[in-house]
Amino acid sequence: TTERSSVTGTAPVLVASNRGPVSFSTSDDGTLTLRRGGGGLVSGLSAIDDPHAVWVCAALGDADRRAAREAPDGRLDLAGHEVGSQAVRMLDIDPQTFARAYNGVANSTLWFVHHLLYATPTAPSFDAGFRTEWAAYQAYNTAFAEALAAEAAPNAAVLVQDYHLSLVPALLRETRPDLRIGHFSHTPWAPPEYYRLLPDDVARAVLTGILGADRAGFLTERWARAFAACCEDLLGATVDHKELTVTLPQPSAGGTPIGRTTRLGVHALGADADFLRERAHRPDVDERLAALRTAVGDRRTIVRVDRTELSKNIVRGLQAYRHLLRTRPEWHDRVVHIAFAYPSRTDLAEYRDYTAAVRRLADEIDEEFATPTWQPLILHVNDDFPRSLAAYRLADVALVNPIRDGMNLVAKEVPVVSDRGCALVLSREAGAHSELGDDALTVNPYDVIATAEALHTGLSMSPEERAERTKRLAAAATALPPQQWFLDQLNEL
Ligand code: G6P
Repeated sequence: TTERSSVTGTAPVLVASNRGPVSFSTSDDGTLTLRRGGGGLVSGLSAIDDPHAVWVCAALGDADRRAAREAPDGRLDLAGHEVGSQAVRMLDIDPQTFARAYNGVANSTLWFVHHLLYATPTAPSFDAGFRTEWAAYQAYNTAFAEALAAEAAPNAAVLVQDYHLSLVPALLRETRPDLRIGHFSHTPWAPPEYYRLLPDDVARAVLTGILGADRAGFLTERWARAFAACCEDLLGATVDHKELTVTLPQPSAGGTPIGRTTRLGVHALGADADFLRERAHRPDVDERLAALRTAVGDRRTIVRVDRTELSKNIVRGLQAYRHLLRTRPEWHDRVVHIAFAYPSRTDLAEYRDYTAAVRRLADEIDEEFATPTWQPLILHVNDDFPRSLAAYRLADVALVNPIRDGMNLVAKEVPVVSDRGCALVLSREAGAHSELGDDALTVNPYDVIATAEALHTGLSMSPEERAERTKRLAAAATALPPQQWFLDQLNEL
């Protein structure tokens, strides 16, 4: 190990994630166009103003791959693109390995387990095809670990993100025991009895992979405790429930962390108030707000904004709206549901089917209730960030009803940019509920009738009460801005 660890890079701080801060597309004239991604991690990392920091991510499509290949030393040139001062290194992993790891294991398996998405009489079924995907996931994690080991300065801090990269901490520790390694889960964590759906070796590899980190971070205490419970149950690990630490029982062959203790941390990522408030009042947002106002007239609005994602529970949300219109005719012609459902993970059949189900139900609602002068539902399926912000500003009620969600930032962003105050209908299964529950209208996401009732309560709330609640929601939502969220984790390492 001493010999291997003497070959080091220069980065004192590293981030690793599947989706990086930028992505590329190819223009008509064949040149590459760069787009900056959103999200808490991009804002968070901007707190590090260190030109030697490195962000390692995967090339996700052909344009990314070309950019990665054309980059000198594998580093992308991001000058002038507002992506912070760190260098970005995109890994050109071969497309088949990438697809198997990302679609097959990360998104169809680990994401499904943590969000309780399987219909268990028929799925999952871990067959020979899955074993090929699992081998690809191992190779993909190894590629990340190797890149990080090559870039990291002695004793550097490495922050590994999410379920795509759960094997990286242990792999990295094997070659670079000098590093301080953190892992952060942006998803929920499944309870042991559900997590045991995974093949035993896979379940254990994911847990011991993360336990290779010095610290494993989660968005809420609930997810941290579920992780600890899985370690206890499947690994026989010792958990200190007060200190939130996990220690593996005994030395194990094969180089996994031996008798080491991993500290669990809870970091409730908040909304980026400064960024949102400024961004939500730029002319492109004002323009879209005016268009939405014209479409809605003086009616009230129920707004939802999601990726078209199984766990977001869009279908039951639409069912709840339909139930509201069926049972409370007083809202006819007085409310419009604005639903933005952006494309996501369309390589997966489940997501394509789900998108079709959302569209079908939207059509049915339209057929049942629309009149020549009232369109009860406005559904947009293409991504437009300024239009989302415009809808946030306009909303009377925001509907956030996921089956399960690590945090859900929409629930935190709406109160921050709302113009006149907005009632928040919020699933008790969203991580954000632990901070926002007091002032939200809480729902069981499976209970369509209760969700319809909560929508009615939200629509009926007095403007004063709405404004008061929104103020408190915004304060809770911004308690831990992304920059601080990131620095806290770094400091604790
Ligand atoms: C969740 C995950 C992220 C992921 C995002 C979008 O928020 O925690 O890691 O990047 O979904 O999903 P995608 O598959 O498009 O990257």
